[in-house]
Amino acid sequence: MKKLVVGNWKMHGSRASNAELIQGLLAADLSTTAPRADVAVCPPAVFLADVAAALQGSAIAVGVQDVSVQAQGAFTGEVAGPMVREFGATYAIVGHSERRSYHAESDQLVADKAKAALAHGLVPIVCVGETLAERESGQTEVVVGRQLDAVIATLGADVAKAVVAYEPVWAIGTGKTASPEQAQAVHAFLRARLTSAQPDAAKVPLLYGGSVKPDNAQVLFAQPDIDGGLIGGAALKAADFAAIARAA
Ligand code: G3P
Repeated sequence: MKKLVVGNWKMHGSRASNAELIQGLLAADLSTTAPRADVAVCPPAVFLADVAAALQGSAIAVGVQDVSVQAQGAFTGEVAGPMVREFGATYAIVGHSERRSYHAESDQLVADKAKAALAHGLVPIVCVGETLAERESGQTEVVVGRQLDAVIATLGADVAKAVVAYEPVWAIGTGKTASPEQAQAVHAFLRARLTSAQPDAAKVPLLYGGSVKPDNAQVLFAQPDIDGGLIGGAALKAADFAAIARAA
């Protein structure tokens, strides 16, 4: 199975810097130089049309960093699934820890967003992950299990159509990556949780996110239950993101 490598640009970029980044990604010719990776980028939604147009015809898919539960209506500032589909988005990150904490997104809201994404033809990338305090108190599986259970209960058999990203909060943007053993242990737990609830979910891609860099991607992707990565900072540098995709 090919690895899935997704760049989460977060709230970074400009039309000029995006054009330069995309030029670098296209020049990397990833469909040839990274044959074992499916690649996608998730720019800020305001740049989606620009980025999708620039990547049209390439092997690089595009997505969004959040999606509304609603398809349309009086929901100021929200991003609707049907609208981003019009611009070619195929993925929607939901439940990123930055949204869970800064916007008080509950496990159920994240699950409802994942369901809405599927309803509108998007593949949800559902983020789960524990804080350092939760890890240090031995709560990792309790926390990520609770977060995942809400998605399983809400999506039912459709959970098999989702992607799950394990992003330990303490590894995001810190340069402190989970060790391959730590990441594999949580991925194996997630895989077992998914499979016991929905046997068809055994193949749900499980991405690792949290300071993935060119120098650690290969050993992470070599783990049996790590099916790719959700990349933040390194996704903003074409050479680094290409190197990570080639490590698949
Ligand atoms: O969604 C991916 C992001 O949270 C990881 O960020 O900078 O640690 O790769 P970074």
